[in-house]
Amino acid sequence: MILVTGATGRLGSQVVRVIRSVGLEVRCLVRKGSEYFWLNDSGAAYFFGDLRDPTSLSRAMHGVQYVVAAHGVRVESTDNDHKRVNAEGSLALWKAAKARGVEHVVYVSCAGVVAGGEIPAFSSKRAAEEGLVGSGLPYTILRPGLFVQNFADLARRVEANGNVFLPGKPDTLTNPIHTRDLALMAMASLDLPAAKNRVLNVGGPETMTVEAAFQRMCRANGLPDSHWSAPPAGLRAVAALARPLGRRWANHAKALAVDYGTPSAVDGAEMATMFGIPLTTYEEAARTAFTERHPSEDPTAREEKVVHRQFTATVYEPGVIRWEDLPAGPPPRRD
Ligand SMILES: NC(=O)c1ccc[n+]([C@@H]2O[C@H](COP(=O)([O-])OP(=O)(O)OC[C@H]3O[C@@H](n4cnc5c(N)ncnc54)[C@H](OP(=O)(O)O)[C@@H]3O)[C@@H](O)[C@H]2O)c1
Repeated sequence: MILVTGATGRLGSQVVRVIRSVGLEVRCLVRKGSEYFWLNDSGAAYFFGDLRDPTSLSRAMHGVQYVVAAHGVRVESTDNDHKRVNAEGSLALWKAAKARGVEHVVYVSCAGVVAGGEIPAFSSKRAAEEGLVGSGLPYTILRPGLFVQNFADLARRVEANGNVFLPGKPDTLTNPIHTRDLALMAMASLDLPAAKNRVLNVGGPETMTVEAAFQRMCRANGLPDSHWSAPPAGLRAVAALARPLGRRWANHAKALAVDYGTPSAVDGAEMATMFGIPLTTYEEAARTAFTERHPSEDPTAREEKVVHRQFTATVYEPGVIRWEDLPAGPPPRRD
């Protein structure tokens, strides 16, 4: 059994699908209030828990041999912040995995952990990485840079508004990766000797500037590449101005400056050889990333994927139910 955290996310949902495509059993750790129904067609099981609830993690780990940790916080909310989820939640996840004798953990971190300093989005992931390395668990840490999907998001804003703000420095070198390729790398890392106990910078097959990645995304989808930029100092000023609005927007602005301003240190060809995966070309990835929206943002795709009205789920109520009391079979969905 493979436990996937962040299963409803952009990356995690691809991880679930690539692992299911080779017929392996997957258990998704999902929050009860989250949109997860559109993963029903994958045949994965659900365990309702939360990274901020260590007991749920321990229970989710029952019978699990492998973990792919693809969780993260994009924009913080009052309770769901980088520290609680990325740092403390991840450490609790490693602890639970260790206690249950898990054989290998793959953690998807990010390239920014090196340059990100004390910015919470990155310092929290660094804490998670250090905790995993020190846990004694066999591990692989993957550090991708930008996803191709990030550029698809920018292109959608051009489509909607005719123009977009391009974060970071336009001439920063980047290796955008398609989440499906990254998901394949995560799955391959579970038993690839060359990936065992390693921290790997990963990325797509081609190095290009942030501006070129945006322009090629627009061109591949028949859009004008109208954009404007601000120097990193400008973004830092925006972060300072955003502080009175609340910590989360200021933190988000700071994280964007690092994500789009940290030069890539990836050799795409080496990646493909190491994982034995033919990486998707940028133009092809640009077209699919633009047309395939995340199902939670696309009501039609979401409905299409809810093909099974029943699914396998283990319901966990914090502090109420013991593992032994949990239902054995798949309870019917009631909606
Ligand atoms: N996007 C990029 O360009 C990029 C680049 C490099 C690295 N990364 C890293 O890759 C990872 C995945 O990114 P992504 O874009 O797929 O993220 P995403 O779409 O924002 O997904 C984040 C996932 O984490 C889950 N999560 C958040 N808080 C949780 C909690 N308290 N308990 C349990 N699950 C929780 C979310 O579940 P809900 O559905 O319940 O919210 C969601 O499934 C992240 O660690 C990110 O930092 C991203």
